[in-house]
Amino acid sequence: MDTVKQTIERLRAEIDRHNHNYYVLNSPEISDYDFDMMLKELERLEKEHPEFDDPLSPTHRVGSDINKAFEQWEHRRPMLSLGNTYSIEEVDEWVARAREGLGGEAFSIVGEMKFDGTSISLTYEHGRLVRAVTRGDGERGDIVTDNVMTIRSIPLKLQGSGWPDEFEIRGEILLPWKAFDRLNAEREFNEEPLFANPRNAAAGTLKMQNSAEVARRGLDAVFYYLLGDNLPHDNHFDNMEAARSWGFRVSPEMRLMTTIGEVDDFIAHWDVARKQLPWATDGLVLKVNNLRQQLNLGYTAKSPRWAVAYKFAAERALTPLRHVSFEVGRMGVVTPVANLEPVLLSGTIVKRASLHNADIIAKLDIHEGDHLYVEKGGEIIPKITGVDVDARTPGAAPVRFVTHCPICGTHLVRVEGEASWMCPNKLGCPPQICGRIEHFVGRRMMNIEGIGEEMSVLLYENGWVKDPADLYTLYRHRQEMLLLPGMGPRTVERMLEGIEASKKVGFDHVVFALSIMFVGETVAKKLARSMRDIDSLMNADVETLTAIDDIGPRIARSVVDYFAHPVNRDIVERLRAAGVCMSMPEEPSDSTSEILSGKTVVISGTFARHSREEYKEMIERNGGKNVGSVSKKTDFILAGENMGPAKLEKARSLGVTILNEDEFLSMLGQAE
Ligand code: IVH
Repeated sequence: MDTVKQTIERLRAEIDRHNHNYYVLNSPEISDYDFDMMLKELERLEKEHPEFDDPLSPTHRVGSDINKAFEQWEHRRPMLSLGNTYSIEEVDEWVARAREGLGGEAFSIVGEMKFDGTSISLTYEHGRLVRAVTRGDGERGDIVTDNVMTIRSIPLKLQGSGWPDEFEIRGEILLPWKAFDRLNAEREFNEEPLFANPRNAAAGTLKMQNSAEVARRGLDAVFYYLLGDNLPHDNHFDNMEAARSWGFRVSPEMRLMTTIGEVDDFIAHWDVARKQLPWATDGLVLKVNNLRQQLNLGYTAKSPRWAVAYKFAAERALTPLRHVSFEVGRMGVVTPVANLEPVLLSGTIVKRASLHNADIIAKLDIHEGDHLYVEKGGEIIPKITGVDVDARTPGAAPVRFVTHCPICGTHLVRVEGEASWMCPNKLGCPPQICGRIEHFVGRRMMNIEGIGEEMSVLLYENGWVKDPADLYTLYRHRQEMLLLPGMGPRTVERMLEGIEASKKVGFDHVVFALSIMFVGETVAKKLARSMRDIDSLMNADVETLTAIDDIGPRIARSVVDYFAHPVNRDIVERLRAAGVCMSMPEEPSDSTSEILSGKTVVISGTFARHSREEYKEMIERNGGKNVGSVSKKTDFILAGENMGPAKLEKARSLGVTILNEDEFLSMLGQAE
């Protein structure tokens, strides 16, 4: 009979093995159901026997919603980048340089994919993951171990044998196409900004504070570089195969080559075949295989001489321009859009591409009827990159930016300090008015269900809603609305209920919903939290506003201008009268004291109960001073998990008191 401890350990080992089968080898041995049952059983046992906890248990892969700031870590060896080549000729030149560098010695080359994600460095000690660090600036990065642990294809404990007691392995964190598409579809539904490519999405996800959300997004990882003092082999290829046997996912198609002909074939093959891979790649990497030869070749300041990237050409199509349209957004900014003869590019049909602003049109020197190059490199959004001048019809006129609003005819004005033009007729230009109504009701603003783009236009065209505040008197038009084709009582009631419910939406959302130039979601939150209510915000001057973190003069000016306008003040008053929330909830008043008066405090590590920012505020509210580095003058250190080793050592040598968060909170009388 197993003891409980043995059962727990056996379950952990089995679950680790099934994770590897499923996520790395793609060949599960058991059903998802059986796997879940095993995991549940382990969870139950661990809960009953907390004394057998292990931070690397597979039950900890689900992440947590604890808010943590990232601690930094200095890389033992800097994380460099790779030199790029764009043609076979440039690759040949690299091979020739390597041969010369090695004094004519023969050498072999390993070819592998260049994965397009965000790089990661993992450290293992005695076969256990101890740390995951982002590239950062190459010298030091963020410790993101909790987030990385949620990636099921990364082994927390190694399999097999023969690994060095301590080693580092580097690789790429990726968001596979499928997970990327799902994430963006979700974001579109929630009206959140879309990620331009899987690389940005992977990097953004890895730095999220909430590891439960990271777990949900479905990151993956591939490894390509083993570092350490006692590696099992004297060459890259065999070391990577060893890493594969320890449970890592290694470049699926590494190839060992000795002639330039083989390298050419390898490039030609993957230029096409990469499109079938489940994740994005932006090229290939070629590496000198032998580690002694790598050492001999060494490094330039930025990259190794023993490796080089070959970048695939972005997919490009040439298609005629039908016409350039000029579209007016809710802020009045006019965006030129190239309407194209539809063309197939990387699997989707492209019909339109933004030309962004007047400067870009001028730079591309686009003429009527030109044939335009469209590219979709790693990006999802197609981009116009050039014009086929030879195909231009003689006498074709250059495309000129409009001087008047294409909708209301008002003379356009240049946005100060920017390349864009805008229609200043804010109160009379229909797309601006409808755009502001549509924005106001959006999910991340007032979240009013039942009103979208078409309904905003309909409500405006019937004269019922000319600004967001009119929504709250829409009920007066109930009978008229019912007369419109396609407007049943259910539709109308749902809309009116949505409007009623929006009165409970928080003040920070209301500030965002107003459509103040340069005030996006994050800025709106900052304004709402600092100014606390609409009267303070409306009456704040530029100086008061710029005193808020991250609010610069441009935003401050725009806020002041917005509230200086009587029409906007009137909208605010009508919203207030309708019962829309115009202030933040009161903060608990007993949270300030002089307990820390005169005390200097250093914060280090990651915390479970509050974020680093919150602790900073708490220290200041209680009369203390928060500083960055430990010295003789430090009164105590508020230490979380994974406190930086340098700080810890210094604190110990100076005899500075170290408090954990519970001790700190009870000192402030806030213990739970
Ligand atoms: S080797 C010392 N191999 O590309 C250089 N890097 O441009 C070690 N990358 O920061 C890097 N796939 O994030 C290497 N198969 C591969 C790679 C790869 C993607 C990334 C990596 C690196 C960047 C350099």
